[in-house]
Amino acid sequence: MLKKNLKKILLFRGKFFRSLNFRIMVFLLLIGVIPALLVAGGFLASYNKLSMTQLGNDVRNQCRILATQLSSANYFEHMDNETLTGEMTQLATLYDGRIIIIGQDLRIVEDTYDLEVGKTMVAENVIRCFKGENVSYRMGDRFVELAVPITTGDEENQKIIGVILATASTDTQRANLETLRQSMETWLAAIGISVLALAILLANWLVKPLRHMNQSIGGLVEGALADDLDIHDCTETEKISDTFNLMLAKLRRIEESRQEFVSNVSHELKTPLASMKVLADSLLVQEGAPVELYQEFMKDIAEEIDRENTIISDLLTLVKMDRKATEMNIAPTDINEFLEQILKRLRPIAEKEKVEVVFESNRSVSAEIDATKLSLAFSNLVENAIKYNKENGWVHVTLDADHKYFYVKVSDSGIGIPQESLDSIFERFYRCDKSHSREIGGTGLGLAITKNAVVSHGGAIKVQSAVGEGTTFTVRIPLKYIV
Ligand SMILES: Nc1ncnc2c1ncn2[C@@H]1O[C@H](COP(=O)(O)OP(=O)(O)OP(=O)(O)O)[C@@H](O)[C@H]1O
Ligand SMILES: [Mg+2]
Repeated sequence: MLKKNLKKILLFRGKFFRSLNFRIMVFLLLIGVIPALLVAGGFLASYNKLSMTQLGNDVRNQCRILATQLSSANYFEHMDNETLTGEMTQLATLYDGRIIIIGQDLRIVEDTYDLEVGKTMVAENVIRCFKGENVSYRMGDRFVELAVPITTGDEENQKIIGVILATASTDTQRANLETLRQSMETWLAAIGISVLALAILLANWLVKPLRHMNQSIGGLVEGALADDLDIHDCTETEKISDTFNLMLAKLRRIEESRQEFVSNVSHELKTPLASMKVLADSLLVQEGAPVELYQEFMKDIAEEIDRENTIISDLLTLVKMDRKATEMNIAPTDINEFLEQILKRLRPIAEKEKVEVVFESNRSVSAEIDATKLSLAFSNLVENAIKYNKENGWVHVTLDADHKYFYVKVSDSGIGIPQESLDSIFERFYRCDKSHSREIGGTGLGLAITKNAVVSHGGAIKVQSAVGEGTTFTVRIPLKYIV
């Protein structure tokens, strides 16, 4: 039980970390908290620098005053000046530090700690101060140390007669900094919690349209895709919902076509069988029927078998092309001759339908094609142009080429294709004007096969049509086959 629950929790956590919700939350947290951290860090660092500089400047000013007093009181000759010693002690106490006075011979003459009087001081900053260099203060771990020269003489003839080495404790500054840091941490925690709360709310708000969308799609799937999506939460979901509805419409059309196809195919497959049955039965019931009758009926039966065969092989061709397993059998082909051959095969049908077929070629064209596949494609285009034509109509097949492609145009003077069907005719099993098409015969697979063959050559197919006037299919195929 426990193991099961643990697994559930882990699964939920995994899902949560991959969710958009989580990403938005992390993003908002980052853009909310990182700037606050940077500002706080920068502020503390500046404050620290400023307070230390301030302390250094204060001590330096005090030492300069002391140096002037020492100099004017001739301190190095009258060292027993109690007032000055008192002031030094006061200064040292004020900064919780230490004042050391060093004479010209580097000997310590006064130390508020009374520890090193008489010793020699060779600290670098003291020596540099004696040399007249402007020594800035030195920062220790818990103190600031600086050396200030004691001078005599006027401005032009100044002489350094000693150095004040002052040390001031930074405890107060550091305590202030610590207090500031603590209060900042409290503020940062408060900001962090507010940003987190805001991020959760905002992430939920942003993801809500998607959740809504998911629910609606789920509902649609259960309802067998019968309704449209209707989501107006925001512009983006509205767009997705529109595109989704287009897809739904297409799915419905495909489903409709599929059902249509199943009934079409069963009808198409059953019709030849029914005729054969009738023909065979009528021969069986007639005892001693003449041989001529047998021959006539057998001829009809053979035709029905051919028809059945055509439908089945059309279906097989399409299935084969779909699997893409079909290898292309490319060979250089004389396109003029290739088209002539196709038309030669179809002319008898055209004559039967009283349709005139004309071939016009502007040049001789040779191209690398799979003749079997393209023959299916062009045969179907010309066959359609003949089938969906009027009595005494015409079919024009023209061939042209440029340096890259050849173009075959199949125009007819037939019944035309309604505008709303133009997008669908290449879908398998689609047939315009069902009742009329059924009379004519066909499965609606021809143009699907045609398009498949053209596209597998890297070509394109276009159609233009006007109802009652005629239709033009234009096919463009590259002269060189590119794998
Ligand atoms: N030249 C054309 N003129 C008018 N309608 C056409 C033309 N070509 C195609 N169509 C329409 O497009 C539909 C699809 O054509 P397609 O060649 O795919 O199928 P089919 O001719 O009905 O059957 P099949 O070619 O499989 O025997 C046809 O049913 C017809 O309604
Ligand atoms: Mg056809």
